[in-house]
Amino acid sequence: MTRDKIWADWDKEKKEAFQETFIDWYKREHRNLPWRVNQDPYRIWISEIMLQQTRVETVIDYFYRFMEWFPTIEVLADAPEEKLLKAWEGLGYYSRVRNIQAAAKQIVAEYDGKMPNTIEEIHQLKGIGPYTAGAIGSIAFGLPEPAIDGNVMRVVSRLFCIEDDIAKASSRKVFDEAMRAIIDEKHPGEFNQALMDLGSGTCKPTSPKCESCPIQEYCLAYEKGIQTEFPVKSKKAKPKNVYYLAAAIENAEGEFYLKQRDETGLLANMWTFPLIEVTELEYRAYQKKWAKEEVEMSLFDLVAEEEDLTIFEEYPVIWQKRHLGEVTHIFSHLKWHILLFYGRSKKEFPTEERSQWATQSSFSSIVFPKPQMKLVEELQKYQTLGNH
Ligand code: ADE
Ligand code: SF4
Repeated sequence: MTRDKIWADWDKEKKEAFQETFIDWYKREHRNLPWRVNQDPYRIWISEIMLQQTRVETVIDYFYRFMEWFPTIEVLADAPEEKLLKAWEGLGYYSRVRNIQAAAKQIVAEYDGKMPNTIEEIHQLKGIGPYTAGAIGSIAFGLPEPAIDGNVMRVVSRLFCIEDDIAKASSRKVFDEAMRAIIDEKHPGEFNQALMDLGSGTCKPTSPKCESCPIQEYCLAYEKGIQTEFPVKSKKAKPKNVYYLAAAIENAEGEFYLKQRDETGLLANMWTFPLIEVTELEYRAYQKKWAKEEVEMSLFDLVAEEEDLTIFEEYPVIWQKRHLGEVTHIFSHLKWHILLFYGRSKKEFPTEERSQWATQSSFSSIVFPKPQMKLVEELQKYQTLGNH
């Protein structure tokens, strides 16, 4: 662990020179991003939540649309869940957007619709942890608070050769202490964003561009030539594999059968093709037995007798005698493997709760999680093949 607190050896002069260099660099080189056009706490809050598990390039379009659909915290607080999930569709980690609305309701009820401006109050809001509170506090309100995420820990661990394991929650306090020692109290928002920009563009995980780094002369890891030994990070447990068969079932009207997921749990209330969980062995067996025989095959050829795909026996369907392909998707702790089948419904199809028939042209108005989007893409590949 870090015994040497290098930051404690920096005197006032060194600190100020460092801050000036870094802030000047940020002023010259910062990325122009839509949440940086002003200091509106609402915009900063939403962007920081989006940026937590998603890349900047992806976030930009989502951010513009979110602000268009929900221009104020009041509008957001009153928005229907469907619309909220639609705004987040494809971003993943949907609890983020549910928490955002819970916090919006809190802000309307307790703060007259305005984001509170102390770090304690901001931290109290649903879904806002120390990172987000620090980011909003510093960027929107100029509070001298660190905003410590993975990027910042990488830069700071290199700057001071901090050996604490960044995968451990207990290491946070070390980074918090280092950050409080060096943060520019007059420009905390710019300082934090300078660290974010440096971490994403220059001080990259595998090959940091130290030759063009504005703070190179302050960086201990660079001086020792051991940049890539930081940050120290223990391996996370691998995500657990889960196996599903999915059924794209089409009726005579060209509509597809969709099911809505439970109200709680992973991907709550979102729509997918029917999914049936199987063991890995079953999955591999289906994958092999129903493998495609030739590529140049129309979607509507070679339909199997229903008893061949007994796993979907609750649905009266004529199946195509092959699967359309496999889709995988990683959630934080799970890896889904989905094998997609196509079938035509027979007339006597059951009516189930939380289900609907929908045309493909209406899919854009239904909230699909990422794995379902990938399944639709897979289906469309074969439809294109079959249509010529
Ligand atoms: N990553 C997290 N927050 C960010 C921000 N405000 N700007 C750019 N990248 C970020
Ligand atoms: Fe990162 Fe290299 Fe800059 Fe050090 S000198 S902060 S390792 S880019």
